[in-house]
Amino acid sequence: MNPYFPNLFSPMKVKKTVFRNRIFGSPTGMKELTDHRHLCIKNIDFLQRRAQGGAAMVCLGDVIVDETSDISWNPKVRSWDRENEFAFYDMAGAIESQGAHASMELVHAGMHFHEDDRINYGPSDMVDEFDQGDGYGIRRHKIIEMPREIIDQVVDSYGKAAFRAKHCGFTAVLLHAGHGWLPSQFLSPVLNRRTDEFGGSLENRARITMMIIDKIREYCGPNFLIEARISWKEGMYEGYQLEDSIEFCKMMEEHGIDMIQVSCGSLHFHDSTVLSFPSWFDVDEGHNAEAAAEIKKHLHVPVGTVGAVTDPNFAEKCIKEGMIDYVVMARALIADPDYPKKAMHGKLDEIRPCLRCMSCLTGGYYNLPLHCSVNPQIGRDSDYKFAFLPAEKKRVLVAGGGPAGMEAAIIASERGHEVILCEKADCLGGLMRVIEKESFKIRIRTYREYLERMIAKSTVEVRLNTEVTPELIQTIQPDVVIAAVGGHPIIPPIKGIEKSIQIVDYYKEQPEIGENILVLGGGFAGVECAIGLALEGKKATIVEMSDALASGPNTPYPGTGAMQIDALWTNVKKNNVEVMLNTKCVEITDEGMICEDKEGKQILLKADKVIAATGIAPNEDIVDALRDSVIDFAWIGDCYQPGLIRTAVRQGYDTSLNL
Ligand SMILES: Cc1cc2nc3c(=O)[nH]c(=O)nc-3n(C[C@H](O)[C@H](O)[C@H](O)COP(=O)(O)OP(=O)(O)OC[C@H]3O[C@@H](n4cnc5c(N)ncnc54)[C@H](O)[C@@H]3O)c2cc1C
Ligand SMILES: Cc1cc2nc3c(=O)[nH]c(=O)nc-3n(C[C@H](O)[C@H](O)[C@H](O)COP(=O)(O)O)c2cc1C
Ligand code: SF4
Repeated sequence: MNPYFPNLFSPMKVKKTVFRNRIFGSPTGMKELTDHRHLCIKNIDFLQRRAQGGAAMVCLGDVIVDETSDISWNPKVRSWDRENEFAFYDMAGAIESQGAHASMELVHAGMHFHEDDRINYGPSDMVDEFDQGDGYGIRRHKIIEMPREIIDQVVDSYGKAAFRAKHCGFTAVLLHAGHGWLPSQFLSPVLNRRTDEFGGSLENRARITMMIIDKIREYCGPNFLIEARISWKEGMYEGYQLEDSIEFCKMMEEHGIDMIQVSCGSLHFHDSTVLSFPSWFDVDEGHNAEAAAEIKKHLHVPVGTVGAVTDPNFAEKCIKEGMIDYVVMARALIADPDYPKKAMHGKLDEIRPCLRCMSCLTGGYYNLPLHCSVNPQIGRDSDYKFAFLPAEKKRVLVAGGGPAGMEAAIIASERGHEVILCEKADCLGGLMRVIEKESFKIRIRTYREYLERMIAKSTVEVRLNTEVTPELIQTIQPDVVIAAVGGHPIIPPIKGIEKSIQIVDYYKEQPEIGENILVLGGGFAGVECAIGLALEGKKATIVEMSDALASGPNTPYPGTGAMQIDALWTNVKKNNVEVMLNTKCVEITDEGMICEDKEGKQILLKADKVIAATGIAPNEDIVDALRDSVIDFAWIGDCYQPGLIRTAVRQGYDTSLNL
């Protein structure tokens, strides 16, 4: 029995299959397929890495089952393409070689994946608008009610796809019946307006899912595992609800489903994407666990919960109390694939925490390579498979103890270099120390504390209250200097700007600012600050000169996508933050702000205080002063280009890997 988490690390037997523990890797769709939409070695290494970290089952996400769901603008693996078999076989083998089982998620996107030059089928006739968040805006297409012969074709395709998975060595398939894909479109009383045997009653709306389960069983035999993924409720307020899902799951059990993992939300309702993909605003753990527990009461098959599960204590408690049988994790295992092994050995302080920043979703879910704010290896797993120690030990001086400097110091010391990390402040953390004061950014604090622990465990020599200067470099005589000295706020040339408070100073000093606040600048930082103010009960208004929040010209970072914007807008609306777009601030006064609208008309806005969220500029002066003190010099993070924790950490990692 595991001494730390006896329930989480107890085996689970389903039919003839034994899982080594109760942690399943949640499906993650593959990017960087070959031109022929075949998996490549990168994809295999990515999932093998999940398995190596100790998960019991690892799932290849988003395998499309039928040509009627194929799209050109977001390439997916096609189950019907026999030439995928080599890679499927290799992938299943690679996962199994690490002691995990392999699962393949079967998806038909129905009305959501549409194309210009073909008939686009969905549950009913309608016009669908779908924003994939890939920069091409909203795709709008006519959807045709899927006729019976196409339903039969699609159902058969699910069966064939499952058979291919089995043939190639996968233990299970995961039938995606949630998140607004085809089975849940049929289940939806909002989207399904049919009058035939597939519409109307819950039983009719669930029919296609039951036909799929029956067909997979017919193709794959009694012992092959079929797991389903459902959304226990469809939208924040609309669509099917928990009572419907309980009945739906009971029907699935009658049709021989083996396991059910419970998620939430539908891509169809923008305000519910945060249910499927909880964001940094959602600070609770395992937001679907209670619904899963309610569903489990009515079933005999194992039930899991997915979504925002990050704490092994929480997972242990839920399983111990019989609420659920297993947990399914996506981002926790992206942030740290070794999470299961670390938890199994009680090394919780070494688990690299996920920020729920959704950066991976813009990369991994859309058409960019997968990336992560805290795990710079992810998506590049193959590159680091054979990483080796440096031949020559160097003396490395890192200037600046923000995320860039800390990551650089950790990696350089892990690779055997002698590392001195100097921070001019009296503590490590850099800007993270400031921004973590925002109530919903507690995960940034958790991550900062993790980095500090890793520094403490390493051989890095930390010197606080130590400003790196050319003179100090002369004294230390390093072989390499890595400058990670951050940036400073941009002060725009607006009359009266000195009457405002800079956002960084506001977080740092937490002064009394009154109740009615104007936030100048609708980039990410400004919007989040306004939401934070509203959460404190203040009246918050964002003044933004462009026509969008945190997007378009306001998004300097590659890979910001619709899910992050959805999360922002959902919380802007939920907290009654006022947004004034196309509004240019021309003066800050003692009473508030003078602005101009698009037509140049003046608007007077009253406020107790203006917070200026007008961006960060790199500390070029410091970098320039240090640059010539040593031959080997690198500058990283915000002092290279202001960005995010993700860009800072990645540059810290890459720079030290190349020493
Ligand atoms: C308001 C706001 C909100 C933000 N919110 C988020 C968010 O939610 N998520 C996200 O990913 N990113 C966010 N960011 C961006 C993120 O904080 C930065 O991109 C990141 O901190 C940059 O890391 P860094 O290590 O390069 O610099 P910093 O974090 O700025 O660290 C630089 C360090 O260098 C030290 N230093 C400076 N000069 C010297 C010297 N000569 N010698 C020694 N030490 C020196 C400084 O004291 C500081 O500790 C936000 C930024 C702002 C302004
Ligand atoms: C990068 C990334 C890719 C994903 N791809 C898929 C996918 O292909 N199929 C799917 O059903 N869910 C996908 N998801 C959703 C996750 O499986 C999971 O349901 C969701 O992220 C919530 O779980 P978490 O809080 O543990 O991340 C993806 C999530 C991420 C972060
Ligand atoms: S990118 Fe952000 S949300 Fe995704 S796994 Fe990494 S830390 Fe978590």
